[in-house]
Amino acid sequence: MSAPAHTIVFTPSGRRGEVPDGASVLDAARALGVDLDSVCGGRGICGRCQVVPMEGSFPKHGLTSAADHLIPFTEPEERYRERDGLDADRRLGCHAKICGDLVVDVPPESQIHRQVVRKEADAHAIEVDPIVRLHYVEVEEPTLASTGGDLERLLAALERDWDLTGLDVDPVVLPGLQQTLRAGAWTATVAVRGDSLITAVFPGFHDVALGIAFDVGSTTVAGHLCDLHTGDVLASAGSMNPQIRFGEDLMSRVSYVMMHPGGEVELTAAVRECLDQLVGDLCAQADASRDDVLELVVVATRSCTTWCSGSIRPSSVARRSRRSPTGRSPSRPAICRSPPTPARVSTRCR
Ligand code: FES
Repeated sequence: MSAPAHTIVFTPSGRRGEVPDGASVLDAARALGVDLDSVCGGRGICGRCQVVPMEGSFPKHGLTSAADHLIPFTEPEERYRERDGLDADRRLGCHAKICGDLVVDVPPESQIHRQVVRKEADAHAIEVDPIVRLHYVEVEEPTLASTGGDLERLLAALERDWDLTGLDVDPVVLPGLQQTLRAGAWTATVAVRGDSLITAVFPGFHDVALGIAFDVGSTTVAGHLCDLHTGDVLASAGSMNPQIRFGEDLMSRVSYVMMHPGGEVELTAAVRECLDQLVGDLCAQADASRDDVLELVVVATRSCTTWCSGSIRPSSVARRSRRSPTGRSPSRPAICRSPPTPARVSTRCR
């Protein structure tokens, strides 16, 4: 009697087919023409064949997938994890054997021919008016006679030299403030957002302030690293939107969230990881430090914006009820201005 067959669906390619019980994910990928990398030929050494088994019911594919539809973690996978690290949700496709129906995602780094999305910024004349500005100050050194903490002395210097009053301080600034002031011999450069919030303090004189503009589309994400002083675009990078593994279009993703409790958290985590990687790529291209990135602006469709901010349940986009009429015309968002986000991140609907 021949071994039972299982259905396997690969994302984001959408390729599917029947494979015999006990076939490895790598074998299945090869049989179905799926782009899954391998350098060591399936020896569990290179780690290029990493895949993510998906959990849950996938009506679109007509199957239910679970991580245990692969055999338990194998010894070579354990060795690889100890030696090189392997995310908890990942398996090595060459050793993970199929024992049930499965939807499996091939992350971009496991694809041989991954798409490199390049989106150039359209440069045109703009008025440079950054919301974040740098202010150099000389701070009064503490003495036995002086009271007040380092922050108070810094605020006093900003008021004295720059007429900045009533400033708030981003809590991320405080833990390093004392070291920063001493490292700069009581001189510092302070990044102030909107003349109201201190978002960074650098020791001594510092004249680099960068910002990143992200355009988050349903298929691709583009980022442009800009010099906030000159307005120059220093680097551009793009990537596929990893949310594609939850659905090829926005409504499929909304539907995924509605059918998978906690799905919105997965969507938010996926796009944030993508943005974080792009920040790294952009800084590497421009030989810049992440610490100098003082502002992010994210432009996206309404549902993408909520998934980026993680602050609003996107399923409301599709619900049809009197209280949440956004599933029918006229569509209304939960919020029209930027959703609440950390000080350095602004999000905008388009
Ligand atoms: S193909 Fe090299 S680790 Fe799987």
